[in-house]
Amino acid sequence: MVCLGNICRSPLAEGILRSKLDKTHLNTIVDSAGTANYHVGQSPDPRSTESGLKHGVDIRSLRGRQFGVSDFDQFDKIYVMDRSNYGNVLSLARDESDANKVDLLLNLSNPGSNDEVPDPYYGGEQGFENVYQMMNEACDVIIQNLQNDEG
Ligand code: 4NP
Repeated sequence: MVCLGNICRSPLAEGILRSKLDKTHLNTIVDSAGTANYHVGQSPDPRSTESGLKHGVDIRSLRGRQFGVSDFDQFDKIYVMDRSNYGNVLSLARDESDANKVDLLLNLSNPGSNDEVPDPYYGGEQGFENVYQMMNEACDVIIQNLQNDEG
């Protein structure tokens, strides 16, 4: 899960997916990162933390890190929140195989839409709830896809 700062959207997406995976027997590695280095080592934004806790998702232990080329080796899928993230991540892709791992998260729940998870950083609490709901829906599709791949 990748956004710009790795303190608002992507840590919450990571937490949502982790908590869904915990309720299955799927053995999947999940992580998040930011394309920028502004918030490396920092805790999630308190508004993201609150938004998660409201839904039983605890992201308090997560810390910001920056996306790097080695993430293409570590992960099969790289979900980005907006088109700016998409451009930044693609610019690090070494080949077509790397590039093919990258997609907008909301293309899972709204295929082909290229919809964005809006950056809630400069907005209010409602923005975080809105973002939570969008990412939650997309993460449900990830779980379904993983279960289908298994079967
Ligand atoms: P995020 O939100 O990309 O969802 O973590 C942001 C966090 C910090 C900044 C921008 C967006 N910033 O400019 O510091």
